[in-house]
Amino acid sequence: MHVVYPGSFDPLHNGHFDIIARASKLFERVTVAVLENPSKRGQWLFSPEERVEIILEAVQNAKLTNVEADTFGGLLAEYTKQQGSRVIVKGLRAVSDYESELQMAHLNRQYGNHPETFFIMAATRWSYVSSTMVKEIARYGGDVGKLVPQATIEALKGKLLVSQ
Ligand code: PNS
Repeated sequence: MHVVYPGSFDPLHNGHFDIIARASKLFERVTVAVLENPSKRGQWLFSPEERVEIILEAVQNAKLTNVEADTFGGLLAEYTKQQGSRVIVKGLRAVSDYESELQMAHLNRQYGNHPETFFIMAATRWSYVSSTMVKEIARYGGDVGKLVPQATIEALKGKLLVSQ
């Protein structure tokens, strides 16, 4: 089965990576789909293309050969259909994620080819990690080495958020 794992991934952190690794064991093919939303462009640290590069490097480092990364715009359900998939994978960190994820799962099922959403519970050790917090900690000089894959560290160095 081919599944789509969508998100902003700005940048990829260990919680995301854990979901990717677990999905890659369950499904034949995983497409990590990076949201490309021009209206938010100014708020992003990494361009969609840079985020795809980080994801590809992380999955190559981990030898997850059935994982690919791509950017998408517009409706996720339509993108999922274009990919020939009918399953969206999402990670759930806490009960607070559930409400909006439930809403999105129901709405997504009304578009495209009516994709089902498959939830994977985030590992507890990463359940408190978010991209927003990773960026904030890095900006203030905190060590994010335990929170993100090496590929993200290298990319943060490129943005001068992590010292060389
Ligand atoms: O990592 P994020 O920011 O929580 O990911 C949110 C994402 C990309 C999954 C969500 O914003 C999305 O699916 N956007 C695509 C537009 C769309 O289909 N919206 C309707 C969903 S109900």
